Amino acid sequence: MWRLLASVLFFSCLIVSSLSLGDSEVTCSGIVPLRYRNDKISITDYGGVGDGRTVNTKAFRAAIYRIQHLKRRGGTLLYIPPGVYLTESFNLTSHMTLYLAKGAVIKAVQDTRNWPLIDPLPSYGRGRELPGGRYMSFIHGDGLRDVVITGQNGTIDGQGEVWWNLWRSRTLKYTRPNLIEFKDSKDIIISNVIFQNSPFWNIHPVYCSEVVIHHVTILAPQDSPNTDGIDPDSSVNVCIEDSYISTGDDLVAIKSGWDQYGIAYGRPSSNITIRRITGSSPFAGIAIGSETSGGIKNIVAEHITLSNMGVGVNIKTNIGRGGYIKNIKISNVYVDTAKYGIKIAGDTGDHPDANYNPNALPVVKGIHIKNVWGVNVRKAGSIQGLKGSPFTGICLSEINLHGSLNTYRTWKCSDVIGTSLKVSPSPCSELRTTGGSNFCSSAF
Ligand SMILES: *[C@@H]1O[C@H](CO)[C@@H](O)[C@H](O)[C@H]1NC(C)=O
Ligand SMILES: *[C@@H]1O[C@H](CO)[C@@H](O)[C@H](O)[C@H]1NC(C)=O
Ligand SMILES: *[C@@H]1O[C@H](CO)[C@@H](O)[C@H](O)[C@H]1NC(C)=O
Repeated sequence: MWRLLASVLFFSCLIVSSLSLGDSEVTCSGIVPLRYRNDKISITDYGGVGDGRTVNTKAFRAAIYRIQHLKRRGGTLLYIPPGVYLTESFNLTSHMTLYLAKGAVIKAVQDTRNWPLIDPLPSYGRGRELPGGRYMSFIHGDGLRDVVITGQNGTIDGQGEVWWNLWRSRTLKYTRPNLIEFKDSKDIIISNVIFQNSPFWNIHPVYCSEVVIHHVTILAPQDSPNTDGIDPDSSVNVCIEDSYISTGDDLVAIKSGWDQYGIAYGRPSSNITIRRITGSSPFAGIAIGSETSGGIKNIVAEHITLSNMGVGVNIKTNIGRGGYIKNIKISNVYVDTAKYGIKIAGDTGDHPDANYNPNALPVVKGIHIKNVWGVNVRKAGSIQGLKGSPFTGICLSEINLHGSLNTYRTWKCSDVIGTSLKVSPSPCSELRTTGGSNFCSSAF
């Protein structure tokens, strides 16, 4: 009954807010202009065979070589017709569109032994999972400009199971490949594509700027290890909107490097918008961290609809990380069934090696979370800062996290300073209840 009433209330709020918006729905997707490409080629012109058995690596490499070296004005579109195109990993090039028709599937081979290795990211100092290099992402972009991956909801399939099993049996040699990585790239659009069964993180823009990811679907089993949806990492001006993500790890996680390597590299993630995301995961819906060493600031996440979650909103960092997490605004989050509604923690995640600096404490300051509605949430929240670096300016408003019978709906706090307004269940005393028009302004 409560759940029903809660949903009715929630949806009527949605209707009211969408009415007031009218047709001009707010969007950040315009930060990268969509370019029309006159020059079009098809993978079949380069020997591509979509029979699900032929290995098409040569076709992809030849087609992309042609785009790179024949430099057509306005760039070139590479068309993938319906069919299943098995291939090894490949590199994209600048000024191209990878276009997947309806029914087109680009599928990764399952040969993990001959998968190419690349250098670790300088902000991580080593592979995220294991020391040394890391396997190149299935589809890779390094130092590119003006790249679009789109179409009619064709599929990019990582066939990650073999990799998950290597992880499960602890027989991985190096860090697993991402499904897609863009590194040091600019003006990237990813839309209308289905990503499934990534070996590791799905979409990883790192050291990038002007990135738009919208109308994508990202799928991986709930028990698949580390299959994060979208991880903007040391990147600026990123727009993530209108997508459905259901994976085995965080749906969207903003990162910026790892301990002493991330501090030395010093590349923050900033001006990132996450809007109208729906999904489900045993980990977090909206996550920040735990790799936050280059700093993370000016983040907006809103209109997030989650079900069957580990944590709704999770901000996580650790000693040794240094850096900062500041000016974070998260609003209009609906969570149906979760272990935790909100969790902000200073003790999460591992270290790259023993040389991290235990005195490098992150600064967490100015986190505003408002309009969160949860039903069947087992624990409302926990906010645990660091003794030497308490989290400040934590401001919670209009938060209702409903439990069900036999659940602990209380908040747990330590080393945190902040304010709260209309939060139920009532928050811990560290979040002093206040009101007035300046409410939360001290957070920024
Ligand atoms: C931040 O991102 C928004 C879109 O989300 C964009 O309009 C704005 O120009 C960006 N700000 C800066 C300083 O680049
Ligand atoms: C793909 O890009 C990576 C990273 O830039 C590079 O190491 C590798 O040689 C490239 N592979 C091919 C086949 O061009
Ligand atoms: C593709 O899927 C997205 C997300 O479900 C949807 O919004 C979009 O309309 C679809 N696009 C096409 C071309 O079918």
